[in-house]
Amino acid sequence: MTEFDDVLDDDVIVRRAERADLLDVLRIERACFSEPWPYSAFELFVDEPAFLVAARGNEILGYVVADVMPNHGNDIGHVKDLAVHPEARGNGLGRRLLLDALTSMTIAGAAVVKLEVRASNEPARHLYQSVGFRPARRVPRYYGDGEDAFIMVLDLGDWNSQGLTD
Ligand SMILES: CC(C)(COP(=O)(O)OP(=O)(O)OC[C@H]1O[C@@H](n2cnc3c(N)ncnc32)[C@H](O)[C@@H]1OP(=O)(O)O)[C@@H](O)C(=O)NCCC(=O)NCCS
Repeated sequence: MTEFDDVLDDDVIVRRAERADLLDVLRIERACFSEPWPYSAFELFVDEPAFLVAARGNEILGYVVADVMPNHGNDIGHVKDLAVHPEARGNGLGRRLLLDALTSMTIAGAAVVKLEVRASNEPARHLYQSVGFRPARRVPRYYGDGEDAFIMVLDLGDWNSQGLTD
């Protein structure tokens, strides 16, 4: 039993991130990544509509950071960061955060969404593929430790029309 065992209770909400969440977000980031973002990086995105947290009361269980960049009428969403507290994983929160971020990016006008994922990151690659992302190319030595990345892409028009939002 962990403190997160009842994580799927109805009282977990996904909402816009606020400045007051950032220290908790940073703690999860440091527990999840070998090259974690600094606090200042999260500060830059705090007003983005697709910077979301999964919260149970005052407790932050996970987050997603994404934004939308103009691209000559074919705006591009970018999932920059996604993480769930290690003890809260496997309960659907990562999927819920990702789907809500895709909805936010759709509303913000994105036509496609891209992301980078470590070649060895099976859980994340499975999640992205199950939502409809497809690998577009592999970038050798993308990460600081020399690991390759897959660039994955999702067409939001297809995603919305195929009802893949559940
Ligand atoms: C990737 C991550 C966010 C998934 O969060 P989660 O809350 O555990 O994910 P969910 O419970 O919503 O699972 C969604 C899907 O992810 C995939 N998945 C999750 N854990 C998995 C595992 N251990 N092995 C393989 N696939 C897995 C499955 O496709 C799963 O769907 P299913 O339950 O229908 O099989 C989480 O593992 C994490 O925080 N990892 C560390 C940070 C990270 O790597 N972020 C991604 C950076 S690109």
